[in-house]
Amino acid sequence: MFEHLLSTSTESDDAAQNQMSAAEIAADQRVFKKSIRAFNNYATHARAALAKKRSDYAKVTSQLRELIPSEVELASLSSSSPSTTVSGSGMALIDSLAPTSDTTENVFERRLAAVEGAVTVNATFLAAMVLAIGEDPTPPTPTLNSNKRLFGPPHLAKDKDAVVLDSDMDKVRSTLRQFVRDWSDAGKKERHDTYHPIMEAIDKLYGNLPTEQRGKLKVLVPGAGLGRLAFDIAKEGYTTQGNEFSFYMLIASNFALNSIKRQNQYAIHPWIHSFSNSQTASHQLRPVYIPDTVPGSIPSTADFSMVAGDFIEIYGGSTERDEWDILVSCYFIDTAKNIFEYLRVIWNALKPGGVWINHGPLLYHFEGMRNEMSVELNLDEVKAVAKKMGFVFEEERMMPSTYTSNDDCNNNIIVTTLYSFLEIAFGNMR
Ligand SMILES: C[S@@+](CC[C@H](N)C(=O)[O-])C[C@H]1O[C@@H](n2cnc3c(N)ncnc32)[C@H](O)[C@@H]1O
Repeated sequence: MFEHLLSTSTESDDAAQNQMSAAEIAADQRVFKKSIRAFNNYATHARAALAKKRSDYAKVTSQLRELIPSEVELASLSSSSPSTTVSGSGMALIDSLAPTSDTTENVFERRLAAVEGAVTVNATFLAAMVLAIGEDPTPPTPTLNSNKRLFGPPHLAKDKDAVVLDSDMDKVRSTLRQFVRDWSDAGKKERHDTYHPIMEAIDKLYGNLPTEQRGKLKVLVPGAGLGRLAFDIAKEGYTTQGNEFSFYMLIASNFALNSIKRQNQYAIHPWIHSFSNSQTASHQLRPVYIPDTVPGSIPSTADFSMVAGDFIEIYGGSTERDEWDILVSCYFIDTAKNIFEYLRVIWNALKPGGVWINHGPLLYHFEGMRNEMSVELNLDEVKAVAKKMGFVFEEERMMPSTYTSNDDCNNNIIVTTLYSFLEIAFGNMR
C-alpha cells in the first residue's frame, strides 16, 4: 500500500542507488540476508538461552530447589503477601503458554516452559514478517552442536556469513519491543509522551491549512524506526518520507505498514527475554497485541514513503538540498557518530525557512565504543553549533520520557528516567 524501498523506490533514492558501486550493493545484500537469518534463528537462539537457564537451575541442590513452591502453594502465599501476587490471570497465562501441564513442576520450571511457549508465538510473528518480503522463513535445522556453529564466533565457523552474532539477536529482540512502542495499545502512553508533542508542533505551524493543501508540504523523518510517527504525520495530510538504514526496522515497518490486515491480528511476548527486574511471571509473559490500528486512509493529496539508506548519504548532497519543509528527528540525533555532520545534513535538507523539530535524549549510541568515532556534544553545545549554522530556536522544553519500556516493570521495580529535549528551530534562513 505504501511506498517502501524494499519493494519500490523514490527519485531521491534512485539517485543514491545509481551512485552505488557493485561492491556496495553486494555488501547491502549481505547485511539484508544477515538480518533475515537473524529473524529465522530467533527461536533456536532463544531456546538455547533457555537450555542454559535450565542447566544452571539444575546445578542448584535438590534440597534448595524444593524451596520453590508449587502453583497451589504460591497461590496461598500470594493471598498473605501482596508483593508476590501471581494468581488469577497470571497463572492462566502460564497455563496457556506452557506446552505441558506437568503437575510435579514448580513455578520456576513452569515459568521456563511458558517462556518457551511464548518464544514459539514470537517466532510465528517473525516468520510472517520474513514471508511478507518474499523471503524463506524456515528456521535452520538444529543439529548436534549447531548452536556453536550458528551463534559462535565467526572465525570458528566454516561459513562465516551464516553465523548469527549475539548482537544480531539483540536487534531481533529490540524489533519486538519496538512494535510495542509503535504499533500497540500498550505503547499508547509512550507515543503520547514522545510523538504527540511533535504532532502538536506541526499542528501549531500548519494545522490551519485545509487537509488537501497540506500535501504540498514535505516532511522528512530520518531514523524512522517502525514508521508510526511518519505514518501519523502523513495521516494528517502532509507528504511524508521516513528514512531508515536498519534492515531489521525496514523489514518490520514494511510488515506493519503493508501486510497486517486486522487490528490486534498478532500477539507477541516482547518481555520474555529478560528474567531480571521482574516482579511476577505475568509481567514477563504479558502478551502485547499488534497492531492497535491498521494503517490506511491517508488523504489522497498526501504521499507517504519509506526510504532505505544512510541519512547522511541520502540527504547530505545536492539532490536533497532545500527539499524539505519540516525535518523531524525523534530519538535520532544521538545516533550520530559525528553530530556536526548530522546538523549539516539537516541544514542542507531543509528549505530556506524550513523547520527542524527535534525530540529525544542525547544518549549517544557510539559513546565508549573503542573502534567507532563518537563526538558527544551536550545540549548547550548542539544548540550553539546549530545557532552558528543559522538555526533560530523557537521553543524548548525538557521532559522525562521512556523508550520501549515495559510499564509493568517500570511501575513496580525500576524507574528509568530518560530526559528528552524538545527543540523547535527555524532553519536555513538564507
Ligand atoms: C533510537 S531509534 C528511534 C526510532 C524512532 N524514531 C522512534 O522514535 O521510535 C533510532 C533509529 O535511527 C536509525 N538510524 C540510526 N542511524 C541512522 C542513519 N545514519 N540513517 C538512517 N537511520 C539511522 C536506527 O536504525 C534506529 O531505527
